[in-house]
Amino acid sequence: MNTNGKPSRPDDLVPDIDPGDIEDEDAARAAIDELSNTLRYHNYRYYVLDDPLISDAEYDDLMRRLEELESRYPDLQAPDSPTQRVGGEPRDELGRVEHPMPMLSLKAVYEEDEAHSFDQRCRRELNNGSVAYIAEPKYDGVAIELLYEGGRLVQAATRGDGDTGEDVTANVKTINEVPLRLLDGDDRALADQIIARGEVYMRKDEFEALNARLAEQGQTAFANPRNAAAGSLRQLDPNITARRPLHIYFYAVANARELEFEHHWEVLQTLPEWGLRVNLEQSRRLETIEEAIAYHDELAARREELEYEIDGAVIKVDDLAAQEKLGTRTREPRWALAYKFAPRRATTVIKDVVFQVGRTGRITPVALLEPVEIGGVEVSRVSLHNQSEIDRKDIRIGDRVLLERAGDVIPYVVKSLPEAREGAETQIRIPDKCPVCGADVAMSADKKQAICTNPRGDAQLREALSHYASRGAMDIEGLGGKRAEQLIEARLVSDLADLYELRTEDLEQLEGFARKSAQKLVDQIQSRRKTTLQRFLYALGIPQVGSHVATVLARHFNTLDELMEASADDLLAINEIGPHIARSVVSFFGEGENRRMLASLRDAGIELTNPLAEPTSQPLEDQTFVFTGALDRWTREEAQRLVERLGAQASSSVSGNTDYVVAGPGAGQKLDEARDREIPVLDEAAFIDLLENYDIPLD
Ligand code: IVH
Repeated sequence: MNTNGKPSRPDDLVPDIDPGDIEDEDAARAAIDELSNTLRYHNYRYYVLDDPLISDAEYDDLMRRLEELESRYPDLQAPDSPTQRVGGEPRDELGRVEHPMPMLSLKAVYEEDEAHSFDQRCRRELNNGSVAYIAEPKYDGVAIELLYEGGRLVQAATRGDGDTGEDVTANVKTINEVPLRLLDGDDRALADQIIARGEVYMRKDEFEALNARLAEQGQTAFANPRNAAAGSLRQLDPNITARRPLHIYFYAVANARELEFEHHWEVLQTLPEWGLRVNLEQSRRLETIEEAIAYHDELAARREELEYEIDGAVIKVDDLAAQEKLGTRTREPRWALAYKFAPRRATTVIKDVVFQVGRTGRITPVALLEPVEIGGVEVSRVSLHNQSEIDRKDIRIGDRVLLERAGDVIPYVVKSLPEAREGAETQIRIPDKCPVCGADVAMSADKKQAICTNPRGDAQLREALSHYASRGAMDIEGLGGKRAEQLIEARLVSDLADLYELRTEDLEQLEGFARKSAQKLVDQIQSRRKTTLQRFLYALGIPQVGSHVATVLARHFNTLDELMEASADDLLAINEIGPHIARSVVSFFGEGENRRMLASLRDAGIELTNPLAEPTSQPLEDQTFVFTGALDRWTREEAQRLVERLGAQASSSVSGNTDYVVAGPGAGQKLDEARDREIPVLDEAAFIDLLENYDIPLD
């Protein structure tokens, strides 16, 4: 029991216990003990200290494992098991109050099929073909219960452990949005008792401003708006709360049925008439679970635009009688579901650090992680940026770290968790010799830049430039390896985007350039800015992405942006893309330097079309082509695939059905046969003309 003393830190913050491996009662007892103690500690970190060490998802997962074991071994379930409590320890300094009805928790799920199972269970138990739901944002603030008697606010309490919460009446009274007396637009406002529940939150902009103010005063900043709201609400001095920008959204009346409400939707419509703020703008009444799932997805997409933090959608059965019928299981109502967004934060362990040498010789420390899913993407490496960052955040190998990936931001380490250290962690130092070539590394005074002093990096850039310019890529004539080298040596180009800044005057200075040839190269570069996604992807020189893979990718993703957002899983779902390629593509687009380069290329006016995205027209439908001899632009297979994509057939022998024979140098008997049969024969130029006549892109 841990009702009094402070729970002690478990050896392992997320024990590696798989209920599937547990086969006898002794093992189950040990596992249940360990999971229970671990969960108690995390409850304490979360509720009492407002400083959790693990993510919500990890917490939920621990809880689920404990529930599974307890349901298999019901005799081992202790009355004070964490599964039997909502999980808060009220703070001693604030008075305690008992909730008139327990404040429940919500079952949290992350997957669409879990939302479907929830719906199926509701419909089955209600014997209904369909169940209507109310969907609301799941606010990431602090749950609060306000008790109104005869229309007057008499008590405000936090959730605490669900039965008993902290008395924060004086603090809540400082929140302007909370009416001390209800408006009596509706008779029920004056009922003997109204148990109104909602969430106290701080807006994101206000949170930033508060943190800036605290920092100025030399005080500790809050980690997030939820902690800021909780910390502000649980002040012992209401004067402090009064100076904090707190808001409230109401989302339930616990005794609604007593007040003769029939539907939750009606409750939400009525609360504002009493003066209680409801987020009607973002709440919906929906007829099916599919609509609720779509609501969740749309909300996830709009999450960043909202002024306040949310971490999912809450889906509730609208009909209150149906809610009652579905009832409550231990700590969760069976008529409501928290369908949460993929968590943006997670903790994991740094297994090792590698030092990457970029094209410019810059050395970046990259942490190799115990893979962890954040925001729906598996993350196994994360840049630690530079020595200064590592020192500032005191990050060590072996450390448990908190990672964040918000929206489309690249994952980063928020902080290390020194409390979780066991003693074997080691310092991270950027080496003073380049890990690739052994040359000296130059470290800037502020420790923000470490550069390999060997100009070897230039060799890589030369390769990258000449590949970029090559025929199957951007097709920039006159920019081979030699020219690339000259440009690099003259410091005119330090990445691909610099090509577009080149001026004739710059080039004229270089050996072997005359005014005309300089002008020609600049024109070539500029004139090739418009190209296809396929060529561009190939041109980027992403490891593992040759011309064919580039084609496959361009067929699956309409735009570069879509590809940039793709997760390794998205890529793996494509036939022909294996884990090597997927990893390489994801890591290429995840690299800050590459993203910056792509942004500069866009600024330089690179324009991409993607004719492969949707094979809409079939301009060569019903035509049959035979290819013979060699072509310059394509291999024979590529040419065959090209016409097939346009609806034609590619045949290997000439027959009465053949419409065109495309002949290149080295054409043999097929050419003779074509002539015999008076079938039109196209050379490569004529074939290209034909395609261009149809306005067909040539890739
Ligand atoms: S209804 C019995 N609606 O989620 C259901 N809760 O795990 C009572 N929460 O801390 C809760 N947004 O404060 C409900 N729109 C919403 C919510 C919401 C956030 C929080 C609630 C509690 C947790 C339940």
